[in-house]
Amino acid sequence: MTVAYASGKVILFGEHAVVYGQPAIAVPVTQVQATATVEPGPAGRGITIIAEDLKQSYTLDQAPPNDALRAIVVGTLEHIGVGTKRDLTITVSSTIPIARGLGSGAAVSTAIVRALGQHFGNLVPPQVISNLVYETEKIHHGTPSGIDNTVIAFEKPVYFVRDQKMEIFSVKSPFLLTIADSGIASPTRIAVSHVRRAWEREREKYKELFDEIGTIAEMGRQAIERGEIETVGRLMNENHRLLQLMGVSSPELKGLVEAAREGGALGAKLSGAGRGGNIIALVTQETRSRVDMMLRLAGAKDIIVTEVS
Ligand code: PMV
Repeated sequence: MTVAYASGKVILFGEHAVVYGQPAIAVPVTQVQATATVEPGPAGRGITIIAEDLKQSYTLDQAPPNDALRAIVVGTLEHIGVGTKRDLTITVSSTIPIARGLGSGAAVSTAIVRALGQHFGNLVPPQVISNLVYETEKIHHGTPSGIDNTVIAFEKPVYFVRDQKMEIFSVKSPFLLTIADSGIASPTRIAVSHVRRAWEREREKYKELFDEIGTIAEMGRQAIERGEIETVGRLMNENHRLLQLMGVSSPELKGLVEAAREGGALGAKLSGAGRGGNIIALVTQETRSRVDMMLRLAGAKDIIVTEVS
């Protein structure tokens, strides 16, 4: 049996604006992960996919054509040149909450590519994993920028510009992020189409917002590379303000962001598509427990602390 994993992710700067060509920064979150196992299946049964969390089990032939798990299995087997006429059981599970901006879909797909690659002795390089997973992201999201599959496949902090650039950059002074779940599921596809409609109505306003967010992502990268952590926090606050103007915050996210700041976070913002999902807060060893307490009082359903390094 072959087992492979993939971590979750959060977007530090630039969500939504990244869809419109602005830079964004995302980092892996190793505290949550997707797991895929591959083992020989019953003879003549073909390929069976078991999605443990969804309590679903089906063969490739039974899967609807736009099933994301089917798509990544077929795409990977074709890529590594072994074809789909195999008897295999592929089991996936994940500790990454779904539709919370933590990249669960991309992580499950990445774990599958890694597990199939290992199983057939063909280690798939990160850029190829990213490209294969991007195809399934289209099924999940409609018009994904590609940032989720990139950060999850490379498992490093990335600076990303859609269709142009992916750079892994260095973190001078590692820092802590508290990730707090509002408990509200928010499918990326819906939030992204909401922004698109708003942009179509008010192009100038939204272009300005996207440009400003792009500048923040740029400055955020510099601040991280220089170890200027307080600047990172200020930029997170500013990014959140612009996301609010874009209409992707919510009363719950606003409450969590304010609670984190009251608790002493150096900065806080929503992360991912917004309208639900998670907020992230920049904390230190000294402030993390107070921020944690304030977030729980403000209704956070789950809290993860991760180090960005
Ligand atoms: O999947 P999420 O919630 O992290 O959102 C992805 C980020 C967006 O910028 C909103 C969409 C995209 O494709 O980049």
